[in-house]
Amino acid sequence: MTFELQQTDKNTDARAGLLTTDHGQIPTPIFMPVGTIGTVKGIHQKELKEQVQAKIILGNTYHLFLRPGMETMDAAGGLHKFMNWGGPILTDSGGYQVYSLAHRRKITEEGATFANHIDGSKHLFSPESSLGIQRDIGADIVMAFDECPPYPSEKTYAETSMHLTHRWLERCVQFMKDSAPKYGHTQALFPIVQGSSFDDLRKQSCEFIAGTDQPGNAIGGLSVGEPIADMYRIAQLCCDILPREKPRYLMGVGTPANILECISRGVDMFDCVLPSRNARHGMVYTRDGIINIKNARWRNDFSAIDARPDGAPTSQVHTKAYLHHLFRVNELLGPQIATLHNLRFYLALVEEARSRVLGGDFRRWKEALVPNLEKRL
Ligand code: GUN
Repeated sequence: MTFELQQTDKNTDARAGLLTTDHGQIPTPIFMPVGTIGTVKGIHQKELKEQVQAKIILGNTYHLFLRPGMETMDAAGGLHKFMNWGGPILTDSGGYQVYSLAHRRKITEEGATFANHIDGSKHLFSPESSLGIQRDIGADIVMAFDECPPYPSEKTYAETSMHLTHRWLERCVQFMKDSAPKYGHTQALFPIVQGSSFDDLRKQSCEFIAGTDQPGNAIGGLSVGEPIADMYRIAQLCCDILPREKPRYLMGVGTPANILECISRGVDMFDCVLPSRNARHGMVYTRDGIINIKNARWRNDFSAIDARPDGAPTSQVHTKAYLHHLFRVNELLGPQIATLHNLRFYLALVEEARSRVLGGDFRRWKEALVPNLEKRL
């Protein structure tokens, strides 16, 4: 995997770059749709490519390990083949999902033991087993096994946890040296900065993970309930330390406004369940604000869901009234159209951010747009 930094904005820390993986190129900044369990919920791969124009998608070690399991993944020849997605894939390492979904969790030096949320059976995830599973899945970018401390955390807890994440990272780096990828394409390891909302811990963590000299770096432990100002401050602090010539990935963030603000602070990659999950509940993002399509207000609104040329084709040909109807009668097509819409909306947003950085007017564009994005229509 290589990263070419193509342009840095003169008014902000926003950047435009190009990530090259064995499964294709990714212009940055980029948003990665979440495909937790071998599917971006409700969206066929053909639509993901043609309508959403996704350049890279996310998979989850925790979910794929439980179902279909690594025997099937191995027999399928990895996730790209299994789901017939020819583009790049990034997998999260599993720890974060263990902490948010599993039961009877216990964290030790070795790793995290847990009872899974499907049938309660017990497992251990360690840096080595997480990376081993990610080898079987065959993602282009694999994430280090980390602990994401809850918010708020006592400083002593956050500090102990950060050091554990750092020791786990050393084991991840060693594992990648000792083992070979399975499917003939390369896999890049991204370490994850932790340290909760403590600036000095974040600084230490950035310096530590940058020192391991991996192909890219991630910022974890944000969007866990902290005030937005903390998220922006920490994103800025991390971007100021993490190497400029490598991609920076902010995990699990966020709203359209969060994404533009963090691009402005030097982040290149994002993932979040919001556009797809909210779509399934009838929340539709537009450049003028957020629509709740179930609201009676849209019953007779025959304007396009989104007339913008960079919107999803389905949003251009279908009306708000039709989408309102589909949600009212609980038809599957409603969440599908809304998901296509929201994912294309997020992708168009980062695509325009990139072209504004290249064109030199990113800050003016972002400042005019952000207040609209949060409005409720
Ligand atoms: N997804 C969102 N935040 C995090 C994090 O801190 N760690 C991991 N592994 N995944 C995340």
